[in-house]
Amino acid sequence: MDQPVTIALTKGRILKETLPLLAEAGIWPLEDIGTSRKLIFETNLPHVRLIVIRGTDVPTYVKLGSADMGIAGKDMLLEFGAEDMYEPLDLGIARCKLMTAGRVNEALPSGRVRVATKFVNVARRHFAESGFQVELIKLYGAMELAPLMNLADLIVDIVDTGNTLRANGMEPREMIADVSSRLVVNKAAMKRKYQSIETIVASLSAAVERRQQTGGLDNAG
Ligand code: PRP
Repeated sequence: MDQPVTIALTKGRILKETLPLLAEAGIWPLEDIGTSRKLIFETNLPHVRLIVIRGTDVPTYVKLGSADMGIAGKDMLLEFGAEDMYEPLDLGIARCKLMTAGRVNEALPSGRVRVATKFVNVARRHFAESGFQVELIKLYGAMELAPLMNLADLIVDIVDTGNTLRANGMEPREMIADVSSRLVVNKAAMKRKYQSIETIVASLSAAVERRQQTGGLDNAG
């Protein structure tokens, strides 16, 4: 008998790219996740179920073992830590960059620089490494607004197309990390449910490889 496995998925943009990849790996929900208000979904594999939660919560569910596996942006893993988890696979989806950004052509103040971000841990590490004195201001969204309203001098945020920055008179400055979605596995679950989990990791890995061979990753968005 297959051991039961719960996979935590990140809702929103990542989910749209996750579901086709999961299907290519032979796993699909029995109902339409996009239109349902449910949070737990059975799949075509009787021992595999999916939960759909915010990206910020995926590391928590997987670390604490409520979910055996998860799909999370690298940005979330960098921000919330990846202890007690394995990260066996880069899924190559939802690619973007973590960057600093500021107002176009605006020089930084000579004193302490104010940085607005929801990625406070990432930002703290980044500026500590470059020896910059910064004051971190935690926000939960619309970071691009902060410099426009003189709440901050810089932001640390996700940049994908760059449209949001451009639309708000801002420009990307320093690159912090390349981001894509990763498969993560709870370490204890990997031991207890090795066979079930390893089968899923192998199927997803094969699906990612097929995409790489056919150039599918470049078209994935
Ligand atoms: C993200 C990010 C930027 C935007 C970047 O926000 O915070 O605002 O996307 O994308 P772009 O470079 O293609 O314009 P998202 O829309 O995911 O909403 P969020 O603020 O809830 O994270």
